[in-house]
Amino acid sequence: MKSVKVSAEIEYEVQIGTPWREALSQAISSHDKALIIVPEFIESEFNLIELFSSDLKTSVFVTPAGEDAKTIDVANRIWEELGRIDLGRKDCIIGFGGGSTTDLAGFVAASWLRGVKWYALATTLAGMVDAAVGGKTGINTKAGKNLVGAFHSPHVVYIDPTLLNTLSDRDFAAGLAEVIKCGYIADPSILEDLRNHPSLQGVRSIAGDLIEKSVKVKAHVVSQDFTESGLREILNYGHTCGHAIEKLSGYTLRHGEAVAIGLVFASYLSEAALNLNPAVTSELITILTGYGLPTRIDSSKYPWESISALMLGDKKSRSGVLRFIGVRNLGEPDWVTGPDASILVSIYERMAQ
Ligand SMILES: NC(=O)c1ccc[n+]([C@@H]2O[C@H](COP(=O)([O-])OP(=O)(O)OC[C@H]3O[C@@H](n4cnc5c(N)ncnc54)[C@H](O)[C@@H]3O)[C@@H](O)[C@H]2O)c1
Ligand SMILES: [Zn+2]
Repeated sequence: MKSVKVSAEIEYEVQIGTPWREALSQAISSHDKALIIVPEFIESEFNLIELFSSDLKTSVFVTPAGEDAKTIDVANRIWEELGRIDLGRKDCIIGFGGGSTTDLAGFVAASWLRGVKWYALATTLAGMVDAAVGGKTGINTKAGKNLVGAFHSPHVVYIDPTLLNTLSDRDFAAGLAEVIKCGYIADPSILEDLRNHPSLQGVRSIAGDLIEKSVKVKAHVVSQDFTESGLREILNYGHTCGHAIEKLSGYTLRHGEAVAIGLVFASYLSEAALNLNPAVTSELITILTGYGLPTRIDSSKYPWESISALMLGDKKSRSGVLRFIGVRNLGEPDWVTGPDASILVSIYERMAQ
């Protein structure tokens, strides 16, 4: 088992390699009572209700799959369940699933009794390298995705890479986009690993190492800037354009697929504004393509006017001035503030198909 420390509003550990059953019993044994929140898929795969049927101190709450779990209705049903089982301040909540599940579990834990302990047991690559680590929790509302939430760090994050065996290639590749991002903003050795494993099948065999490296990047950044007032924004490399594309797709693209396109956009912008060597962008495109991730923009679905309007609404942009994260070199992120509109349009045209 590998361990990475995160120092946020509390200090906590990310354990990589603890088998999921052991992780659950470790978390449960430190408390009088526990509620495990799982999506349907994990419940049908592991039969947790049956597994804990004779354990009076552990309850299991099954949610709908994916984003359908991150709603106020589901949160409300969980609050009702917490009331029914009388979960107290010394008890805990466990989110066992992908990013949707850990976002929801963390949010419910932040709000129940003004904050109870919670554990994240991540089951998707995106969850392992990103969502479960960092303390951001939340749900979606009519006003938008992730607008209601809280900073509330988990007590321990457990990562069992064997859980990825059932994850589809599409979801695995989408999670890889965040791993690739970590390579460009902080740890170029990740890119070396990817160069040596250019296919999805090959890269799955080194998932544990890539997870450890990516978690270290996120843990380091979050430990220095928990509430996103500065450094943490480097984690948004590729996300300014990526978020716009994700939203315009009506969330039919996976987050990581939209981020893949955003990474290419940010890399071209880095060439123009920060003198990044163009060979870096060419290699990025080769890496992403190898994993089946998109690198071009379908201009019939994603017109420039819509992308640019959404990018101006990005939280990094201030008073109508676009702000991006770029990279000067591998592992050297920097701000790109107020780039010329003509530069952005020419990048879009280059990427359009
Ligand atoms: N809090 C943060 O900092 C942060 C960061 C990034 C993303 N997120 C959030 O994470 C969510 C996306 O997370 P995600 O990509 O993990 O998706 P997800 O949690 O929605 O899971 C995707 C699908 O995969 C299924 N699944 C989960 N584990 C599986 C496994 N091992 N094998 C097969 N299927 C499995 C799920 O049931 C679901 O249907 C979004 O809601 C996003 O907003 C949060
Ligand atoms: Zn992301």
